Amino acid sequence: MKQPEYAGLANKNILLGVTGSIAAYKSAELIRAYQQAGASVRVMMTEAATRFITPLTLQALSGYPVHTDLLDYSDETIMGHIKLARWADVTLIAPASADFIADICSGNANNVLTAVCLVSNTPIFIAPAMNQAMFRNLQTQKNMHDLRERNIRLIGPDTGIQACGDKGPGRMAEVHQILQQTAQSFQNHALAGVKLLITAGATREPIDSVRFITNPSSGKTGFALAQAAVEEGAQVTLVAANVALETPEHCTRINVMTALDMHNVVANKSDQTDIFIASAAVTDFRSAAISTKKIKKTSIKQHLELVANPDILAEFSHNKKKHQIVIGFAAETDHVVDHAFDKLKQKSLDLVIANDVSHAEFGFGSDHNMIHMITPDKDISTFTDSKRNIGRLIIERVAGLYKKQQDSQKIQEEKNSGARAESDF
Ligand code: PMT
Repeated sequence: MKQPEYAGLANKNILLGVTGSIAAYKSAELIRAYQQAGASVRVMMTEAATRFITPLTLQALSGYPVHTDLLDYSDETIMGHIKLARWADVTLIAPASADFIADICSGNANNVLTAVCLVSNTPIFIAPAMNQAMFRNLQTQKNMHDLRERNIRLIGPDTGIQACGDKGPGRMAEVHQILQQTAQSFQNHALAGVKLLITAGATREPIDSVRFITNPSSGKTGFALAQAAVEEGAQVTLVAANVALETPEHCTRINVMTALDMHNVVANKSDQTDIFIASAAVTDFRSAAISTKKIKKTSIKQHLELVANPDILAEFSHNKKKHQIVIGFAAETDHVVDHAFDKLKQKSLDLVIANDVSHAEFGFGSDHNMIHMITPDKDISTFTDSKRNIGRLIIERVAGLYKKQQDSQKIQEEKNSGARAESDF
């Protein structure tokens, strides 16, 4: 049965590039899955890939000759790399080795896969697969960043046990994840008309007329999310706490100062929200009393009594409607994943984004970040990139969650109306 989330793949041409990685065996599974979704698949392989899985196998499965040589005389007359790129609605490189990724970053056209990627003017997806140390290597991370800057879309990698026995990020994404993300590229805007509410920045809790409690959040993360969501067609309301940044175009911005202000705005908007993303660093406590005059230094200790602010995210989540998606952030300095996962559970989130703020170059105020996206079943994806690109990645993921939610709701409604019709009969 065709999965509704892959519906966009029917009658589409998928050009699959396979490179030298142990995950090459999954390309056979990918071909079958695309065909079941109604797509045609043609295959290109690097020389290294042919050592992991034979061209004959992939030819038999795809039903088309496999392209292994850029300068193959017969290939060039039948369908050269330019024709191949034109045939494709989507080019997918899965698995993509570290070496292949470095090659396309350098603009090489030294094999049929890199040549197609240079020629292609349709979406290119890359599913990296490599050892965790290779993936964490700074040069590989820089290459990943360059790919995103060039609008090449990365799928995964996943984190887990690797073929070499290591544990960490670098496993090729699962087949269903790859199908899901490529299918999404056939929808014009993944979040067309969807209403997003995003909190950003640092709330400021006054003590007296000149002093306040706050934290170093700049709002860059929340604003990057807002920008990426608008690009996907969403209607975005941005609740900005003390942010000195320009508002992304087509966003509705509501400025707030304190956690209580933010709480009021979110409570008022919650019914008109499909997706809530809480990226703000909300100050947990406020002063019980705010003096309208400057308090004398000598008496500030007696004056200062702290009371807890409402947890805006937990409250939204607690009252959430069935169709709503709720995403939280967590800035941590130790046991980053575990602490963030605890927050996901405590606040019943659909996704939590963990930031390791123990590194000066990431987190608060910086232009770059390292994040872990963590799902309720503890699936973890790690990214290091500019906040701009990370905003896009998070929104892409959130759009996927939203679509899945909508599809399963539709199926449920159909089942319910079927059951009603049967009982009426
Ligand atoms: O703004 P930047 O300079 O780009 O920095 C980004 C960031 C590091 C601030 C951001 O990415 C981030 O991590 N934000 C969450 C900060 C945090 O530590 O939150 P928390 O652990 O206190 O709260 C967890 C979640 O609950 C957050 O989604 C927060 O928005 C929400 N929360 C917390 C307390 C509260 N009273 N109400 C809330 O809604």
